[in-house]
Amino acid sequence: MSRKVFLNGNYVEEDKAKISIFDRGVLFADSVYEVTAFKDNKLLDFIAHLERLRRSLKEINIHYNIIDNEFIAIHKQLIKINKLENKEGLVYLQISRGNAERDFLISKAKIKPNIFAFTQEKIISNDPKLEKGLSIISVEDLRWKRRDIKSTQLLYPSLVKTEAIKNGADDAWMIDEQGNVTEGTSNNAYIILNNTIITRNLSNDILHGTTRRAVLNVASNLKLKVEERPFSIEEAKNCQEAFITSASTLIAPVIKIDNVTISNGSIGPITKILRETYIKISIKNGI
Ligand code: PDD
Repeated sequence: MSRKVFLNGNYVEEDKAKISIFDRGVLFADSVYEVTAFKDNKLLDFIAHLERLRRSLKEINIHYNIIDNEFIAIHKQLIKINKLENKEGLVYLQISRGNAERDFLISKAKIKPNIFAFTQEKIISNDPKLEKGLSIISVEDLRWKRRDIKSTQLLYPSLVKTEAIKNGADDAWMIDEQGNVTEGTSNNAYIILNNTIITRNLSNDILHGTTRRAVLNVASNLKLKVEERPFSIEEAKNCQEAFITSASTLIAPVIKIDNVTISNGSIGPITKILRETYIKISIKNGI
């Protein structure tokens, strides 16, 4: 069945949604995006997604006024017209600077951003693969240094994810010059050592995950110890438990890192309670 998608104010069949070849998102990845999970007709962590979208736009000087209710309405309408109210999945939203003659110089002339969004039906809360645990390989982080901006410049993570699958793994964790883990190809990375959850502190080195924020809140409510600091791939290989978070995986255990088995190859108790509590709370607080 063909989807209906949102493009510049209209809901249209997906094969009718066309943008210009001069869109700066197409030519320069001059665009930012958000991916929001939905379940039980609720958008998860949505206000945090909107906050981050505003921040990403501001960091690259795209002027677009985001009105919360308008964006909630677009997302809800897409779920409704695609008959996904009783299903779960993701809504992808992208805003580019707009159409302009190809030039590295960003013109001062005001151009109209292109905005589009579409749904992807996907099992996220009960995916047996995610519950079983993921196998990760480590690779050098060769991305640009403004990973806090959720830009559509995603070629490197896409190549790396493909390489991971080719090598029989599920995903990759990227490693900086100091041998520390930055994040996964499209998720934040965590290890547990001495019953303490360790995840890289917020900076330009990583995307400030909305799921990360919510999960750290859940951890604090559960009185679990959290340390926000860089951790090395060696620490990761010797950890008690490891997991990732993102809108598309929620919380998923990691059970292998570069062929070293973690947590006896199954989801550990801390990851399990975090996962169950986070899913429950995020649906309850969803909009
Ligand atoms: N990616 N780090 C990176 C590099 C990401 O691309 C993502 C999300 C995250 C987690 O952020 P959040 O918890 O807000 O989803 C961390 C989305 C899911 C994607 O690109 O599809």
